[in-house]
Amino acid sequence: MIKSTIAELPKHVDKEVKIGAWIANKRSSGKIAFLQLRDGTGFVQGVVVKSDVPEEVFQAAKSVTQESSVYVTGKVQTDERSPFGYELLVSGVEVIHASVDYPITPKEHGTEFLMDNRHLWLRSKRQHAVMKIRNEIIRATYQFFNENGFAKVDPPILTGSAPEGTTELFATKYFDEDAYLSQSGQLYMEAAAMALGKVFSFGPTFRAEKSKTRRHLIEFWMIEPEMAFYEFEDNLVVQEEYVSFIVQSVLANCQLELKTLGRDLSKLEQIKAPFPRISYDDAISLLHEKGFDDIQWGDDFGAPHETAIAETYDKPVFITHYPTSLKPFYMQPDPNRDDVVLCADLIAPEGYGEIIGGSERIHDMDLLEQRVQEHQLDAETYKWYLELRKYGSVPHSGFGLGLERTVAWISGVEHVRETIPFPRLLNRLYP
Ligand code: 4AD
Ligand code: MG
Repeated sequence: MIKSTIAELPKHVDKEVKIGAWIANKRSSGKIAFLQLRDGTGFVQGVVVKSDVPEEVFQAAKSVTQESSVYVTGKVQTDERSPFGYELLVSGVEVIHASVDYPITPKEHGTEFLMDNRHLWLRSKRQHAVMKIRNEIIRATYQFFNENGFAKVDPPILTGSAPEGTTELFATKYFDEDAYLSQSGQLYMEAAAMALGKVFSFGPTFRAEKSKTRRHLIEFWMIEPEMAFYEFEDNLVVQEEYVSFIVQSVLANCQLELKTLGRDLSKLEQIKAPFPRISYDDAISLLHEKGFDDIQWGDDFGAPHETAIAETYDKPVFITHYPTSLKPFYMQPDPNRDDVVLCADLIAPEGYGEIIGGSERIHDMDLLEQRVQEHQLDAETYKWYLELRKYGSVPHSGFGLGLERTVAWISGVEHVRETIPFPRLLNRLYP
């Protein structure tokens, strides 16, 4: 007997196999039972025909409950009607563990109920599809950066510094010292770029933001590349090529998952570099034309503004050259005017908002010292960061891509809470 997973069934057409699985759903009549089987690698329908199997096998199939674990034996057949393309003609069902009163039934449940049962909700077909797409984006990320000469570097999670401002920090004790959970690995990645040239990180970041929107998590994962000798425009080219690469990888390798989610593929197919760029100044004018009369030069964009700007394009759009006052201390000023910085946010289409924030970094020691002062940061804490400008300072740039917002956009799911296995949200630490 061949032991198989559901994903490997296409290799065993017309053969008898045994799989370990759970009962995702079940339908039966007096003569036939349909078992919706899942094993983590995929979903397949098992067909049990009463007249073809011993009576106890048919009874087992008829009485097995949702989410019971089973060993199923059967013959693999092609099946045009199933999205997967295969089904199992079942000859044996062995219940490993009978599940009792599984709380998530095929009927509709409210979001809070599903979130309380996140540890089980992950098993559903939609959630499974989103997690597979998340995994594909991570895989493609490593491929892209490895193929383009970047080294993976892991910045610390426990830190003494606050790259993105001091208002949203999770403070903790580090023995007798104060420490914070990392908001961004960027400052450490700048040090790494001076040692390794082109680097990227992938890790968890934490923001004690009191925001309760469909785009905000308290704990989220970021990919942060940093490149020595890269200036503002070079940085944008890396970003558009990287984002195109991950979208095209998901299209190539997650057909079934995108179908499960009902994603409009035509919207993803056009995501290819280059991406349009619009300056902050022009974005303000565009918003005025679109009827946002209240917004003024110097204001930050909210979700409705970002959505309105993004609607003008069918690809992600870079908004560049934001006012200096809106951005963190480390961004390089525009050489032609010092009221804006050499930065860009990448706004995803279809209302998914900002997926990347990035910039050229200040490489002049005096200017950076001045900014540290202006932002009332403790010069001792940033001593090591300033020293990067003392020993062979070079122009350099980098960016951070928020994984969950990117997964939400590519999967087409409404809220970031479905894009991470166990979301940390305002007022939610369970499960
Ligand atoms: O724009 P942010 O704050 O930029 C940085 O942290 C830079 N230090 C990155 C760098 O240049 N190395 O965050 C980057 C991205 C955002 O564009 C967004 O996609 C995501 O991280 N992000 C969040 N995602 C979910 N929940 C939150 N609360 C997020 N805050 C930022
Ligand atoms: Mg940002």
